[in-house]
Amino acid sequence: MSARSTTDHGPRTIEAGAPPARYARGWHCLGPAEKFKDGAPHEIEAFGTKLVVFQARDSGALHVLNTFCPHMGGNLAHGTVKGDALACPFHDWRWGGDGKCAGIPYAHRVPPRARTRAWRTLEENRQLFVWHDPQGAPPPEGVTIPRIEGAFSDEWSDWTWHTVRIDGANCREIVDNVVDMAHFFYVHNAFPTYFKNVFEGHVASQYMTSDPRADMTAADTLSAQGRLRSEASYYGPSYMIDHLWTETGGATVETVLVNCHYPVTPDSFVLQYGALVRKLPGMSDDEAAQAAAQAAEGLATGFEEDIAIWRAKTRIDNPLLCDQDGPVYQLRRWYEQFYVDVEDVRPEMTDRFEFEIDTERAVAVWRAEVAANLARRGTGTAAGAGK
Ligand code: FES
Ligand SMILES: [Fe+2]
Repeated sequence: MSARSTTDHGPRTIEAGAPPARYARGWHCLGPAEKFKDGAPHEIEAFGTKLVVFQARDSGALHVLNTFCPHMGGNLAHGTVKGDALACPFHDWRWGGDGKCAGIPYAHRVPPRARTRAWRTLEENRQLFVWHDPQGAPPPEGVTIPRIEGAFSDEWSDWTWHTVRIDGANCREIVDNVVDMAHFFYVHNAFPTYFKNVFEGHVASQYMTSDPRADMTAADTLSAQGRLRSEASYYGPSYMIDHLWTETGGATVETVLVNCHYPVTPDSFVLQYGALVRKLPGMSDDEAAQAAAQAAEGLATGFEEDIAIWRAKTRIDNPLLCDQDGPVYQLRRWYEQFYVDVEDVRPEMTDRFEFEIDTERAVAVWRAEVAANLARRGTGTAAGAGK
């Protein structure tokens, strides 16, 4: 963004910058809550440290603690749940979900300062969330994870769920996708015809309509069957809910996707995603599960395409944009609010911001490209998308 690059017309120099040294403030999804309810402690590598998740046997509540025991550094993820506490495998100190030492069987008394870090948790949408704030404050009023009604309804399928660790990229890469219309055509073989972003407070939304591509097989494109309408919002830095409506054979299939991540180190993160599908009239549970699996598979393909890009690309703090690109800088300004102290959040990070891309030029060019691809293959004269 230096003035020099616009005045001397020299080659643009990429400013790669260093990934942030801290991790975002916000709720981070650790995965399906059920996964942690098997009676065993689970180790999670996140936020540059290690956590342990366990379910209190008596209360049934899920808790998250630092995994290393403050006594002599034992790993609590290798310990055992005893009652409502987690027992360290090293000397059997018992740690409660509130972080307090609940007992030391071989000692007369528990040292009054025997306390480890307990992380604030939330169960929503059948998933477990942990609150991360480098300043140690609780979530502000209204900063929570919205309920997805389909996750609790018999009219919807169950969640599918996938987890993949991405090494060699900071999680900002995935958030950039919120404003990146053109990559949907070039990376995901979709055909966006409408694209709008709205950022406000801790929420960043993307509204998109995408048509099928006549030059792609169903397996190769995002909107395989018919027109796809998508309303996707990040609630905080890492949890996106995407409502999708796909026209297919005269019916509209309604899907909810969750796309979320938590950082492991400044240059690695764990990406997780899952899908729910509303059952069509007469659809059996099996058919709904199949439809959800299919939606998740499409999503998996999409992420594999993104991941290939992220693994090979460089970090870039000063993207060189054209008039048909989305508001990358404004999105990053929104995203910045999660990386500064609360008192340093500026109004321009949270003020409402709207931007709709005029897709006319892109749609015309992409129609021509689709037609040329078809003509090259001698497969007819259809002129692009939506037909
Ligand atoms: S290290 Fe955990 S009880 Fe000693
Ligand atoms: Fe993408």
